[in-house]
Amino acid sequence: MFTPEMMESVKKVEASRAERMKTEARRMTAEEKDELLKEFHPDYRTEAFTEIKIGPNKGQKAPEELVHLLHSNSRLLGEEIDLDKVDYDVDVLVIGGGGAGASAAIEANEAGADVMIVTKLRIGDANTMMAEGGIQAADKENDSPVQHYLDAFGGGHFAARPELLKRLVMEAPDAIQWLNELGVMFDKDENGRMITTHGGGTSRKRMHACKDYSGAEIMRTLRDEVLNRQIPVVEFTAAVELIKDEKGQVAGAVLQNLETGDYLVARAKTVIIATGGAGRMHYQGFPTSNHYGATADGLILGYRAGAPLLYQDTIQYHPTGVAFPSQIYGALVTEKVRSLGAQLINVEGEAFMHPLETRDVAAAGIIRECTARGKGVDTPLGSGVWLDTPMIEELGGEGTIEKRIPAMLRMYLRYDIDMRKVPILVYPTLHYQNGGLEIGGDGFTKVMDNLLVAGEAVGGIHGRNRLMGNSLLDIIVFGRNAGKAAAAKAKQVEIGTMNLDHIQAYAEELKEAGLETGDVSPLLLPKYARHQR
Ligand code: FUM
Repeated sequence: MFTPEMMESVKKVEASRAERMKTEARRMTAEEKDELLKEFHPDYRTEAFTEIKIGPNKGQKAPEELVHLLHSNSRLLGEEIDLDKVDYDVDVLVIGGGGAGASAAIEANEAGADVMIVTKLRIGDANTMMAEGGIQAADKENDSPVQHYLDAFGGGHFAARPELLKRLVMEAPDAIQWLNELGVMFDKDENGRMITTHGGGTSRKRMHACKDYSGAEIMRTLRDEVLNRQIPVVEFTAAVELIKDEKGQVAGAVLQNLETGDYLVARAKTVIIATGGAGRMHYQGFPTSNHYGATADGLILGYRAGAPLLYQDTIQYHPTGVAFPSQIYGALVTEKVRSLGAQLINVEGEAFMHPLETRDVAAAGIIRECTARGKGVDTPLGSGVWLDTPMIEELGGEGTIEKRIPAMLRMYLRYDIDMRKVPILVYPTLHYQNGGLEIGGDGFTKVMDNLLVAGEAVGGIHGRNRLMGNSLLDIIVFGRNAGKAAAAKAKQVEIGTMNLDHIQAYAEELKEAGLETGDVSPLLLPKYARHQR
């Protein structure tokens, strides 16, 4: 299990535990946080960002890996695509089979629209499935959406778009009710009341959970609902380019069957991009907690068609990814472990920060401990700090870990680490893209009034840092709204003659800027995928 050096450090963690449990670590001041972030958060490593040279965000910065994709040509450049041969003709085309896409499709179907989901993997193969800790909603007596707004607005450095954040928090209680009625098995007490806990940066306990597989339970329920409603789902098929018409509207998408390589044409009156995140881009070489398909595809599709990005330069590194054992390096260790009482401890057995600072601050604090302060624990792949998990059993009573975070317990037991008895080693992991395509409060992009975006592909809901549990919430709130809005809009849209002119125009812009890398985008699968088209 642990190396002898690690065991030496574990002894120090154990020796300091009783004393640490008597006092709570101090919260940082705003000035201390700002200083810490500037010095240690990966978003501030200027050398990891480059300028976008073409398109709506020209002149702004983004992670260099994303800029490389934005500076690449379409997969369809030079291909002969017969747009008169329409394979699918629908009112609403949903690109993406995760929580946002499924919620959108359910509501569009409910509104009577002819809706279809296309997904490059299978429905439910998505970051939603990987979410652990919970979903926020202010639905208890001591809480309110205003309080929720203030927490999220402050946690996001006052950069969230007010109209988006307002929608998120106001519609949160209804989102929980909707999921509950669909059959999500939330944790409840003996009186049937939802059990709620804190997350980093929350002033009230408003995290609703299904143990520590909240996302899997929510996705299971949404997927069942999609299938029960017999909404068509085209799997193992990627959207590789949006189609437009002469009016500049979106008119559908070119799809590629990833098994045969064949291109297919989907015509649609409205399109919803719900393609999720970008963890598999491994920005700055970080490991990731993300699903295999998280390669920023929707950002590329939207951008090439003319839709601007917002906050594309801000990424979330979850403070507690697995640092050891190496086989699960970067996997998520839910924030709920800290909500339940585990402290962050350095190699000397010292609690070096409050465990529930906001995520960006916690991640930067761990990086500082392991680098500048030299107080990390060496691991085969780098270093990490301890999460003192036996404290959970001491605080909550024996059996708390098995009851509240059974998936975590099982994950570690597979490697002979019993987190009830020994602490675990963690280090930040790439978890979430705070930025994405810019939308208005109604979910539509600003440039194409029949193109909508929902879920992690949206920028601006959370500002420049997201609080735990607000992502499972946003996929439901913005997914449902996008589905309803797309269905209504489809009644007014007349599609003109379909074209792919924007592909050629983009290629010319790249050429003029001297950017001919020879690479194509969207990426679709991570670079290390064994089978690439
Ligand atoms: O820590 C977690 O369980 C992650 C939750 C989230 O990203 O919202």
